[in-house]
Amino acid sequence: MDFENLFQVENKVICVTGGAGGIGRGIAGAFVAYGATVYIASRSDLTDAAAELSTCGPGECVPVSADLSSDADIAALVDTIGERSGRLDVLVNNAALGGFIHRFGEFPMDEWDTMTNVNLRAPFALTQAALPLLREAASDESHAAVINIASVDGMRIAGDNDWAYGMSKAGLIHLTRQLAGLLGNKHGRDGGYNITFNAIAPGPFPGMLDRYLETEEGRAAVGAVTVSGRVGKPEDIGAACIYLASRAGSYVTGAVLPVDGGLLVGKMANS
Ligand SMILES: NC(=O)c1ccc[n+]([C@@H]2O[C@H](COP(=O)([O-])OP(=O)(O)OC[C@H]3O[C@@H](n4cnc5c(N)ncnc54)[C@H](OP(=O)(O)O)[C@@H]3O)[C@@H](O)[C@H]2O)c1
Repeated sequence: MDFENLFQVENKVICVTGGAGGIGRGIAGAFVAYGATVYIASRSDLTDAAAELSTCGPGECVPVSADLSSDADIAALVDTIGERSGRLDVLVNNAALGGFIHRFGEFPMDEWDTMTNVNLRAPFALTQAALPLLREAASDESHAAVINIASVDGMRIAGDNDWAYGMSKAGLIHLTRQLAGLLGNKHGRDGGYNITFNAIAPGPFPGMLDRYLETEEGRAAVGAVTVSGRVGKPEDIGAACIYLASRAGSYVTGAVLPVDGGLLVGKMANS
C-alpha cells in the first residue's frame, strides 16, 4: 500500500472557469493553497481576484478574461494555457448562469439559449478544445481530470418555473458520464487517455444564492433544506475537487458526487 502524497496536487496545472465567483473561488483557492498553478477564466477583469487568490499560495493564480459563450474566447483561453504551461492537468467547468425563472408557456427562448450556451455548450466546447492539453498532462502514472460542476437541480425536479437551469445541469451530468465512458478508456481505440470525467452536484452555496444569504435568518432558512443544517462553504467543493484531481481519486470516473449536506436524501429533497 502506498499512502504517500495521496492527495497531492502540487505543481499541477488547473483551469477553473468562473474561478473568481462564489464556488469557483473556493475551488481555485484550494488548489492554490496546495501548490498548483490555477488559471481562472470569466468575462470580468480578474486581475484583482487572481492577486488575492495567489495569497492563498504556495501556488499561483493566473487571470484570463474569456466569455465562454464565444468559441474564439475558448480557443484563446486554451492557447494561453498551452503557451504558458504546455499542459492542463485539471479542467473544472464551473462557470454558469442561474435564475431565468418563467412560467411554462412564457419562457423566452433567447434566455433558454443564453443559459444552455454557458451551462452546457461551453463545458463541451472547452473540454473538446482542451483535450490535447489534457492528454499532454495525463500519463500512465498520473491521470488528468475534468470536473463538471453540475447541481442537485440536475438530479431532482426542483424550482417552480426554473426550466432551463435544471435541464442544463442534467445535460451536463449526462455529458460527464458519456465522456467518461467514451474518452476515459485507457485501452480505447485512440490509445489511452487516462483522463477521468466526474461531476459534482452542489447543494446550497454562496454565489448564485447570495441574495438569500444576506441575513442570519436567510442563511438558516436556506441551510434548513439540507440534512447538515447549514449552507455549504466554498472550500467544501474545493476539497472534493482536490480529491478527484489527485491520486486519491484516480479510480473514480463517470461519477456524480453530491456535495449538498445531504439535501438529496433529506425530507426537503423536492422543495
Ligand atoms: N451557489 C449554489 O448554491 C450552487 C448550487 C448548485 C450548483 N451551483 C453551480 O456551481 C457553479 C458556481 O456557481 P456560483 O454559485 O459560484 O455562481 P456565481 O457566483 O454566479 O459564479 C458564476 C461564475 O460564472 C461566470 N460566468 C457566467 N457567465 C459566463 C460566461 N459567459 N463566460 C465566462 N464566465 C461566465 C461568472 O463570472 P463573470 O461574471 O466574470 O463572467 C461567475 O464567476 C455553477 O456551475 C452553478 O451552477 C451553485
